[in-house]
Amino acid sequence: MEKSLMFLVLLPFMLLFGFSGQNNFKNNKMASDYSNDFQKVPEDPTCTDCHSDLLESKITHAPATESCKNCHTVNLIEHTKNGARGLNLTRKVPELCYGCHKEFKTELDALPNLHQAVKNENSCIICHSPHSSDNKKLLQYEQKQLCLSCHDKEVTATSQKAVNIKRLLANSKVIHPPVEKGCIVCHQPHGSSNNYLLISSFPKGNYASPVKDTFALCWECHDSDLLELEKTDASTNFRDGERNLHYVHMNGKKARTCVMCHNVHASANEHLIEDKVQFGEWNLPIRYVPSLNGGSCFPGCHNEKTYTR
Ligand code: HEC
Ligand code: HEC
Ligand code: HEC
Ligand code: HEC
Ligand code: HEC
Ligand code: HEC
Ligand code: HEC
Ligand code: HEC
Repeated sequence: MEKSLMFLVLLPFMLLFGFSGQNNFKNNKMASDYSNDFQKVPEDPTCTDCHSDLLESKITHAPATESCKNCHTVNLIEHTKNGARGLNLTRKVPELCYGCHKEFKTELDALPNLHQAVKNENSCIICHSPHSSDNKKLLQYEQKQLCLSCHDKEVTATSQKAVNIKRLLANSKVIHPPVEKGCIVCHQPHGSSNNYLLISSFPKGNYASPVKDTFALCWECHDSDLLELEKTDASTNFRDGERNLHYVHMNGKKARTCVMCHNVHASANEHLIEDKVQFGEWNLPIRYVPSLNGGSCFPGCHNEKTYTR
C-alpha cells in the first residue's frame, strides 16, 4: 500500500526527468513548473511554457505573442509526448510573411530594384526574427552589423558585384559621418526605385547631367550650392579663389559625378577623396594632396593642378 502510493507520487517526476533529459528543454523553469502538474501536459501546457526564450527579447512580434498557431501547425500532443519535430510552418517564407504583411508585399512589388538578400530563399528571416529581438524592427543584429554580416566580403549575385564594405571601413582613415550611423541612412534594405538601393536619386557611372535632382541623395544633407554656384567664396572649399571647382568639373556634356573624386563610404584620404578613378578597365591614380588653403591633384587625365582659396 505504502509502496504503491510512493510509486504514484514519484511517477510524475520519473516521467518528467526521463522526458526532459531526452528533449533538453531550453526553459529551465520547466522542471519545477511541471513537477506538480505533470499530468496536465497533454491538455494544458502552452507553447511558451517550454519556449518562453523565443519571446524574451525586448521587442516581440505581435503574432508570436498572440498565438504560435499563426505560423506553426504543431500538434502539441505528438510534439510533447513523442517529441515530434519539424518547423511545421503554415507556409514557406516569404509567403508566410506576405500572408499578413500584404501592404509591404504590394510596396515591394512596385520596386524595380530588389536587394539580392530579399531574393534569397531564407529572405525575411536572414534579417528579421519571426519571434522577438532586442533590435528595432525585429532585426537579427543591430542594423549596421546586419548589413556588414554579408557585406564583409565582395558579394556577387547575377551580373554585378559589390565591394567589400567592411574591409573598406576598416582600412580607411576617414569615414563619411552618416556611414558611422548605419547603412539605412542612405540605403533601403528591401528594394528601391533608385540605383544602388538608395533612398533618393544618384547616378551610375562616372558621368551624368548635373541637373539638380541627379544628386538628390547628397542634397539630403549637403547644400547644392556647393555644386551650383559658378562663383562663391563660401559654399565650397573646392575652389580656386572664387572659381567653384565642383561647378567646373560637373558641368557640360562630360559632367563628372561625385564618385569620380569621392568615395561615399570611406577613404584613406582627406575629404573622402578616392585613391583612383576608374576608366573602363583602367584605374588612374588621383594623387590628391590637401594643403592649408587648397590642394593639388595629379590624375591620369591632366597635369598636376593646384587650387588656392
Ligand atoms: C513540454 C515542452 C514543450 C512544449 C509545451 C512545446 N514544445 Fe516545442 N519543442 C520542445 C523541445 C524540447 C524542442 C526541441 C528543442 C528546441 O528546439 O528547443 C521543441 C522544438 C520545437 C520546434 C522546432 C522543431 C525543429 O524540428 O526544429 C518547434 C517549431 C516547436 N517546438 C514549436 C512548438 C509549438 C508551436 C508549441 C505549442 C503548440 C510547442 N512547441 C510546445 C518542447 C516543447
Ligand atoms: C510570424 C510567424 C511565426 C510565429 C507567430 C511563430 N513562429 Fe516560430 N518560427 C517561425 C519561422 C519562420 C521559423 C524558422 C526560423 C529559422 O529557420 O530561422 C520559426 C522557428 C521556430 C523554432 C525553431 C528554433 C528557432 O529559434 O528558430 C521554434 C522552437 C519555434 N519557431 C517556436 C515557436 C513558438 C513556441 C511560437 C509561439 C510563441 C512561435 N514559434 C511563433 C515563424 C513563426
Ligand atoms: C499572422 C500575421 C503575421 C505574420 C504571418 C507575420 N507578421 Fe510581422 N507583424 C504582424 C503584426 C500584427 C505586426 C505588428 C503591427 C505592425 O507593425 O504592422 C507585425 C510586425 C512586424 C515587424 C515590425 C514592424 C514595425 O514597424 O516595427 C516586422 C519587421 C515583421 N512583422 C516581419 C515579419 C516577418 C519577417 C514575417 C515572416 C517570418 C512576418 N512578419 C509574419 C503580423 C504578422
Ligand atoms: C537585408 C536585410 C533584410 C531583409 C532580407 C528583409 N528585411 Fe525587412 N527590414 C530590414 C531593415 C534594416 C528594416 C528596418 C528599416 C528601418 O528601420 O527603416 C526592415 C523593416 C521591415 C519592416 C517594417 C516596415 C518597413 O518597411 O520599414 C517589415 C514589415 C519588414 N522589414 C518585413 C520584411 C519581410 C516580409 C521580408 C522578406 C520578404 C524582409 N523584411 C526582408 C532588413 C531586411
Ligand atoms: C544575406 C546577405 C546580405 C545582407 C544581410 C545584406 N546584403 Fe546587401 N547585398 C547582398 C547581395 C548578395 C548583393 C548583390 C551583390 C551584387 O550586386 O552582385 C547585395 C547588394 C547590395 C547593394 C548593391 C545593390 C545594387 O543595386 O547595386 C547594396 C547597396 C546593399 N546590398 C546594401 C545592403 C544594406 C544597406 C544592408 C543592410 C540593411 C545589406 N545590404 C544587407 C547580400 C546581403
Ligand atoms: C551617405 C550615404 C550612404 C551611406 C550611409 C551608405 N552608403 Fe552605400 N552607397 C552609397 C552610394 C551613393 C552608393 C553608390 C555609389 C558607389 O557605389 O560608391 C553606394 C553603394 C553601395 C554598395 C554597392 C557598391 C558596389 O560596389 O556596387 C554597397 C554594397 C553599399 N553601398 C553598402 C553600404 C553599407 C553596408 C553601408 C553601411 C555600412 C552603406 N552602404 C552606407 C551611399 C551610402
Ligand atoms: C545623411 C546625411 C548625409 C548624406 C546623405 C550625405 N552626406 Fe556627406 N557628409 C555628411 C556629414 C554630416 C559630413 C561631415 C560634415 C561636413 O563636412 O559637412 C559629410 C561630409 C562629406 C564629405 C567630406 C567633407 C570633408 O571636407 O571632409 C564629402 C566629400 C561628402 N560628405 C560627400 C557626400 C556625397 C558625395 C554625398 C552623396 C552621395 C553625401 N555626402 C551624402 C552627411 C551626409
Ligand atoms: C573633380 C573632383 C570632385 C568631384 C567630381 C566632386 N568633388 Fe567634392 N570635393 C573635391 C575636393 C578636392 C574637395 C576638398 C576641398 C578642400 O577642402 O580643399 C571636395 C569637397 C567636398 C565637400 C566638403 C565641403 C566643400 O564643399 O568643401 C563636399 C560635401 C563635397 N565635396 C561633396 C561633393 C558632391 C556632393 C559631389 C557630387 C555632386 C562632389 N563633391 C563632386 C573634389 C570633387
